[in-house]
Parts: sequence; C-alpha cells; structure tokens
Amino acid sequence: MHSSPLTPPRNSKVMKTKFLTQNEINGTTLAQAGKILQGGGLVVFPTETVYGLGANALDASAAEKIYAAKGRPSDNPLIVHIASPADANKYAFVGEEFKKIAEAFMPGPITVIMPKRDCIPSAVTGGLDSVGIRCPENAIARSLIAAAGVPIAAPSANISGKPSPTSALHVKGDLDGKVDMIIDGGDCTFGLESTIVKIENGTVTLLRPGAITLDMLRELFDEVLVAEAVTNKLKDDERPLSPGMKYRHYAPTAPLYLLSGTNARRIEYCMAADSDTLLLVYDEEAGLFPNHKIITLGSLNDEVSQAKRLFAALREADSTDCKKILAPMPLQRGIALALYNRMIRAAAHNIIELS
Ligand code: TXA
Ligand code: MG
Repeated sequence: MHSSPLTPPRNSKVMKTKFLTQNEINGTTLAQAGKILQGGGLVVFPTETVYGLGANALDASAAEKIYAAKGRPSDNPLIVHIASPADANKYAFVGEEFKKIAEAFMPGPITVIMPKRDCIPSAVTGGLDSVGIRCPENAIARSLIAAAGVPIAAPSANISGKPSPTSALHVKGDLDGKVDMIIDGGDCTFGLESTIVKIENGTVTLLRPGAITLDMLRELFDEVLVAEAVTNKLKDDERPLSPGMKYRHYAPTAPLYLLSGTNARRIEYCMAADSDTLLLVYDEEAGLFPNHKIITLGSLNDEVSQAKRLFAALREADSTDCKKILAPMPLQRGIALALYNRMIRAAAHNIIELS
C-alpha cells in the first residue's frame, strides 16, 4: 500500500465500534482493549494532548489499518507511544539528549524523533529510518500501553485534515464504525498535540511546538534549532523535516483569516465585518458583537485555556454556514507559539495586517 501516497478512507467494511464510557473504565475493560491491540485491532484512547488512534506498533498490518481508517497519506509517519521512558531504547537508538529530555519532561506532552531500530516496521514510520517516541502522562493511556504489552503507534484520532479531537464526541463523529473501540477519557487536559523534537547527530531541532515550550527546551540545551515550517509557509517544492507539515491541516470549510494588530483594532475590524462572517473571539469579548455569530476561544490572557479550546472551536466553526471566519493572530512565544503554528495552518497562512 505504500506505493500510493493517498489511502482512501476505509468505508467499505463498516465495523461495530465498542464505546467505553468513563464509568466503564477499569482493569477488566482496559485488559479487553489491550487484547484488541494485541490482535491487530484499532483502539482510540485519551492522552493529555489529544485523542490517539492506536494499533500495535510492532505489527505492520495493524499500523496500515490506521492509515486506512484516517484516510492518511502513507508517507506520514506515526508516533510510537511507550509506557516508560526506559523502553525507548528497545525501539530507537537513544543518546544523551533523549535521556535529558526524558528526565525533564517524561511522562508528558513531548515526542522525540530518533533513529529507529529494526523492530519498528517501516509502515509505522512512513518509510523513514527514524521514529517518534512519546511517553504520555495520561493515566488511561499508560494503563492501556501496559495492558497491551506492546508499544502503541498512534496519530491523532481524527479524519486526516480535520482538527485533532480533544473529546470522545469529536472522535465518535470521525471514526465510529472504523475502529474496534473508543475509550472516553473526558476532555484532554492540554488540547494541542505534543511538542516534537528531532535529535540527529547531537543536534536538537523543534519540529512542532506544544506544551513543552522552546524556552523549556533551551534550558536543557545550549542550542535548539527551530524548523522553518514551525512559523513559515513552505515553498511548493520544499521538503519539511516532518512529513505531516506539508499537508493541509485543521482548515475549516469557510476561509479563515488571522487578524494581526492590537486587540482594539481587531475588535473594530470585526464589528465592521459582514453579518455572515463568523468571529472567533476571546471570552471577555463575547458581548461586543450582538450582530454576529461568534465562537469563543478561551480567556484573553490565558493561553492554556486557549490551547484547550482551539480545536473544538474550529470544529464548531464548521457546523455554522458562515462565508468567512476572522480570528486573532496568536503571539509567537511560549505556549502561544503552539497556537500560532496550528492557526496559521488552519488559515492557510492568510494574515490581515491591521495598521
Ligand atoms: O500529542 C500527540 O503527539 C498526538 C497524541 C495521540 O500522542 N499524536 C499526534 O500524532 O499528534 P500525529 O500523527 O497526528 O502527528 C505526528 C506528527 C506528524 O506531523 C508526523 O509527520 C510527525 O509527527 N512525525 C512522526 N514521526 C516522524 C519522524 N520519524 N520524522 C519526522 N516527523 C515525524
Ligand atoms: Mg494529526
């Protein structure tokens, strides 16, 4: 299947998806979920970042089912989830840099890309000779990996191109009938995908910003490089360090524009917008636009609440019949860099500079 880059969604064989509610999660049901994974099946599980669509990372044909269920291009590699940082060495060639990161931030919302060992099939890594390793903090995720007894390959549990799911309801909308089980762990605590760093010949490069910020990484290492695609648009012929960065991502159906300028200018611009324009605004601004449909993005100076809201807000935007969407442009520092990175993709780099 790796000859063709686009795998069609698996809609021919609809299966019955078992939905495990929060009250039903216990040792027995997680053992059942572990058995499904051991048998080559697909289980969606919560993590502290977003929901993951999991399969046995040591089983090439199980991993291939992930690409089919998501409609994901087969050259876009999967992250391998482990129960303990000490297991990383079984699946990747681990150096001093990984050990530093693991000690500081694992378990937690960070993925480290390193040269892979042979036991990880190339179906998992999209044909690359490196593998992304992540040890999640979420207790259900860790119990599930332990119950499976194998590492779990998992991308975000959305249909390819849609925002990553931060609630089990989002997952159900995208993947009901395409996976064996969905485990409802409630809303994800952070809400944006993990920070990704690549370690190559001792050099640490940030590929995707997340809850573990660039400043936090720079406290560990003298130098941390930042991949061009984190903040800028790639040229058509440019190859990103992370294959996922080249694909259209998160974009709502209506065109989204980011407004760059002061909050006062942004509010003024939004007030003057056509009534069929949807406004994404901060919680405190909700009362200012009686003539518009609005969706709130979390609290103005609270980037943690904004991270938690963003993907749900983008999904809500798609359930309206607006012609256009306007949103604030996040700053490019701290946790806001993760918001900025997702929003410029959602907006296909359409930025309106307000003077
Ligand atoms: O928080 C997360 O990371 C979530 C949860 C489920 O763990 N997972 C997630 O996976 O966001 P996914 O597949 O949606 O995003 C992983 C990104 C993709 O852009 C992929 O291209 C990149 O990581 N990636 C994975 N392995 C890679 C590798 N070996 N080299 C370069 N990029 C890699
Ligand atoms: Mg994803």
